[in-house]
Amino acid sequence: MEPILSFKSVSKSYDDLQILNKIDIDIESGHFYTLLGPSGCGKTTILKLIAGFEQIDNGDIIYQNKSIKHTPANKRKVNTVFQDYALFPHLNVYDNIAFGLKLKKMSKVEIKQKVQEALKLVKLNGYEYRTVEEMSGGQKQRVAIARAIVNEPEILLLDESLSALDLKLRTEMQYELRDIQSRLGITFIFVTHDQEEALALSDYIFVMKDGKIQQFGSPTDIYDEPVNRFVADFIGESNIVEGEMVNDYLVNIYGQDFVCVDMGIPEKQHVEVVIRPEDITLTDAQEGLFEVTVDAMLFRGVHYEINCIDRKGYEWMIHSTKKAEVGSKVGLYFEPEAIHIMVPGETEKEFDKRIESYEDIDHAQN
Ligand SMILES: Nc1ncnc2c1ncn2[C@@H]1O[C@H](COP(=O)(O)OP(=O)(O)O)[C@@H](O)[C@H]1O
Ligand SMILES: [Mg+2]
Repeated sequence: MEPILSFKSVSKSYDDLQILNKIDIDIESGHFYTLLGPSGCGKTTILKLIAGFEQIDNGDIIYQNKSIKHTPANKRKVNTVFQDYALFPHLNVYDNIAFGLKLKKMSKVEIKQKVQEALKLVKLNGYEYRTVEEMSGGQKQRVAIARAIVNEPEILLLDESLSALDLKLRTEMQYELRDIQSRLGITFIFVTHDQEEALALSDYIFVMKDGKIQQFGSPTDIYDEPVNRFVADFIGESNIVEGEMVNDYLVNIYGQDFVCVDMGIPEKQHVEVVIRPEDITLTDAQEGLFEVTVDAMLFRGVHYEINCIDRKGYEWMIHSTKKAEVGSKVGLYFEPEAIHIMVPGETEKEFDKRIESYEDIDHAQN
């Protein structure tokens, strides 16, 4: 599919400080995208450039095959739900939502119909005449969404929309956001620094760091195949250990060889190895791949988080539904597929190419 919106090598500085560095993104119509990264990495800046509240320094922004670099904000088919909602506190819910339509000089009848539709979509029918101050955090959030979608944007931008809500409400709103997006069928670009939220909500995620896109992909792609240490660390818990390729399908970690699924990496290449805590199982001391001592255990609700120390003093984290006794010796076991190898300095393109080549082999073998 043709992208509806693209950034072509977009850069942006504030006062000589480079905030975005040659950003390339392609957004297709009708999906839920998330920009994910730590605070200050440039997520809000990207939304502002899309909305036209800030101008780019270099590169281009293409919307439906035309540059919108010089298109003013009010002419872009984009609406924003701001982090602080930016509602008018002195207006009631109805007037907040109708505000933009009144500016467009739409008829009263038409405005009423559109506001009612928007209210229904966010499940706030009946709340028209409440003042915004009377609404809870979650309800304000809905009003802000209704106010944005009443303008029928083709792209909805949402900046850390759920961050102000408590955990339970946030989870509820996650389901609702997905539901609203799929019912509207428009493109959502959502910003968050919360990796769990990004994994739960998105069709696709852009992982960002220091004004650069580190990785783009579906939540499972990014979780299962992080491109580098930063992404592996940022997305979920992981054991990241140092290793060296012995040859194809064999990697040496802390002096011991392990069978893996990776090939095409030069012998003796220094690599970083990710093994997710939930991919490791505990066995009797002698029966695992190697022996460790249980150092600490925490109950996390669904699983136990177990910290172990191996013979050389390195730490391993395991998620297990079974308990282990602190101080006891146990074995660790994981499948070759659980070993994920990263080559330091590899670009996302080189990485994708390498991973694809394994999939080709996989298909040929099956
Ligand atoms: N108007 C501005 N003037 C100067 N610096 C800014 C301005 N807006 C943002 N910045 C800086 O740009 C960087 C990225 O900001 P932002 O895009 O808001 O990050 P994020 O949304 O990922 O937290 C930060 O270091 C921030 O201080
Ligand atoms: Mg921000």
